[in-house]
Amino acid sequence: MKIFIVAGARPNFMKIFPVIQELKKTSVEFKFIHTGQHYDKEMSDFFLNDLKLSKPDISLGVGSGSHAHQTSKIMILFERICLKEKPDLVMVVGDVNSTLACALVSAKLGIPVAHIEAGLRSFDRTMPEEINRVLTDQLSDFLFTTCEDANDNLRKEGISENKIYFVGNVMIDTLVKSIETAEKSTIIDRLGLRKNGHIRKYALLTLHRPSNVDEPLVLRQILGVLNGLSTKVPIIFPRHPRTLKQIRKFKLDYLIDDVSAMSSVELMNKDQKVRAIPPLGYFDFLCLMSNSSLVLTDSGGIQEETTILNIPCLTLRNNTERPITLTEGTNFLVGTDPELIRSKAIDIIENGIPKKRTPMYWDGKAAKRIVNILTNQLQN
Ligand code: UD1
Repeated sequence: MKIFIVAGARPNFMKIFPVIQELKKTSVEFKFIHTGQHYDKEMSDFFLNDLKLSKPDISLGVGSGSHAHQTSKIMILFERICLKEKPDLVMVVGDVNSTLACALVSAKLGIPVAHIEAGLRSFDRTMPEEINRVLTDQLSDFLFTTCEDANDNLRKEGISENKIYFVGNVMIDTLVKSIETAEKSTIIDRLGLRKNGHIRKYALLTLHRPSNVDEPLVLRQILGVLNGLSTKVPIIFPRHPRTLKQIRKFKLDYLIDDVSAMSSVELMNKDQKVRAIPPLGYFDFLCLMSNSSLVLTDSGGIQEETTILNIPCLTLRNNTERPITLTEGTNFLVGTDPELIRSKAIDIIENGIPKKRTPMYWDGKAAKRIVNILTNQLQN
């Protein structure tokens, strides 16, 4: 049996890592296909290196472009490889363009598709990821889910019960395996966040959704309120390349400080403006997240990671495809309303939040369940 494992963008790498580790314990042949949707060292190599993921067996090198351009380029190149190598199963993860492109090619060639992180829905079709999720799930034969609400979403869309496997969360597998190493990162000291032996209160910010960063007014409003908040606590902002491009285009640089060239001593005494730094590797980011007082984000995965770390998270969106992080986790939806962001952030920084529950099967064993299911089903 030969499996193709597809990853292309930053949030994909930590999802394939535990599956590859489990597959290595079996006799199953697998190949890691990197589509090249993300290609900067900071967006790809840093993660592959941190996780010690071996080099991709096949790199498609597609790069950036419009949705149609990127998706179609992946499809053409991926079809060529499938025809040549004839895999028995294609595994895709998450909801990025690479996920849908490879699922579509496989389904048309009659190759079974396994989708990890199936069934998540924001019910917001203006998000490109929502379209990728719905379509990938329709094309998949094995739908591996992280929570009960995802199972319900799939049932409502007519997916047959025997294709749905509730296995838990592979991204949490990676977090569980990595947290000890991450705590050894020196990022806290490098950013001057330790004073007199104690880690200061600080907030961590990530921002990259088109709805937040492609609209000049929205982006200005978000950075404006956070700029004000940064006089209370330092806000560390590892900025996504897409966001940096937009900040420059809309001339909003005055709302952030690019502190990448500053020494830790200079940073220790610095207290204004959102502190922009280049994107971080997995361990540095995990360390910053687990020691922060508050995370502000529009990412999907970070809502789940903060839930497990019991770190309060303000999600700067009006919806989430991960509602379990609201009901059982540490996540609060605040949208982009400046007053709500400000008041909720201050409340959390001053008072913290109560301890929350751990969602079912977010226990570090999801990849083991997935590989057991696949080997049982495909080898029989
Ligand atoms: C993609 C995913 C999104 C995911 C995010 C994580 C889709 C539709 N979107 O969004 O779901 O949350 O990745 O980061 O698949 N760029 C670089 N270097 C890179 C990659 C991108 O400079 O290595 C810049 C380019 O200007 C590019 C832009 O970022 O045009 C957007 O990249 P793209 O892959 O289209 O989408 P993301 O915003 O990264």
